[in-house]
Amino acid sequence: SALRGLLARMPKAELHIHIEGSLEPELIFALAERNGVTLPYAGVEALRAAYAFTDLQSFLDIYYAGASVLLQEQDFYDMAWAYFEKAAQDHVVHAELFFDPQTHTARGVSVGTVIQGLSRACTDAQQRLGVSASLILCFLRHLSEDDALSTLEDALPWRDHFIGVGLDSSERGHPPSKFARVFARCGELGLHRVAHAGEEGPPAYVEEALDLLHVERIDHGVRSIESPALMQRLARERVPLTVCPLSNVKLCVVPDLTAHPLPQLLTAGLAVTINSDDPAYFGGYLNDNFLALFAAQPQWGAREAYELARNSLAASFAPPQQRAVWQ
Ligand code: HPA
Ligand code: ZN
Repeated sequence: SALRGLLARMPKAELHIHIEGSLEPELIFALAERNGVTLPYAGVEALRAAYAFTDLQSFLDIYYAGASVLLQEQDFYDMAWAYFEKAAQDHVVHAELFFDPQTHTARGVSVGTVIQGLSRACTDAQQRLGVSASLILCFLRHLSEDDALSTLEDALPWRDHFIGVGLDSSERGHPPSKFARVFARCGELGLHRVAHAGEEGPPAYVEEALDLLHVERIDHGVRSIESPALMQRLARERVPLTVCPLSNVKLCVVPDLTAHPLPQLLTAGLAVTINSDDPAYFGGYLNDNFLALFAAQPQWGAREAYELARNSLAASFAPPQQRAVWQ
């Protein structure tokens, strides 16, 4: 239909994609072979069959296992390049990629190896695909704040290769307040700040992320729907939410897309965006998320499509001269 064509072809930004979550099973096994890594799955089919998640943790266990095949700089490049080719097909004009250095440094891979491989793919994405791209370093919240601080320190020689920091991994029991000092340091360094909050955690975690970490965007934030006071604040302050519809269904945050709170968030005046989170694991890239959500909202049309695309470009950290190109 015309609407499907519009959704697929309109220019959009992707602001919530974990690049390790873009590793398709075929590439996981190719890299395992290249690097001599043995996986606890017989093959691509067996791995895909294990993608039946009941909550965030059940996903994270498999996601970290998949990332174990990444060892060389070229592996990080190949992973990001595969994503950029999909992004270009989806008419993504700008992407801000999350990456998890601690997942790799724990296996003896240096932060520099990770960042240089990803950064080179970002440069090539701009030059060969016309996709502007930047990196956001995420701290794993199930680890300590001291671990986050030393990760930041280790990454500082590559300070110019990432634009900001985020907070991801297991949310429950790991509130934003645990990372107040490291986020304050990142603010002093002039880094943009975002955090996952209100995916599985309560609305109070969204408030902590805003008040204690001083984040500019909330990743997920869907449980904000439970607090009318928070909803009013997010609308008034136009805090962008990077919402991931297919992720929320796969991780049982919502029962199905017809029950997803995104339409209510949008109607309440929040700066909502649509994103893919971990597309290789959750059954779709950015346009799949748009198409699936719009299929569950038959009353939606071009107005909502443009609003969501415009929100994504407006919520990006792209510099003014880049934004001017999109207007
Ligand atoms: N939530 C928390 N951590 C993550 C996610 C997510 O959706 N994806 C990858 N790491
Ligand atoms: Zn995420």
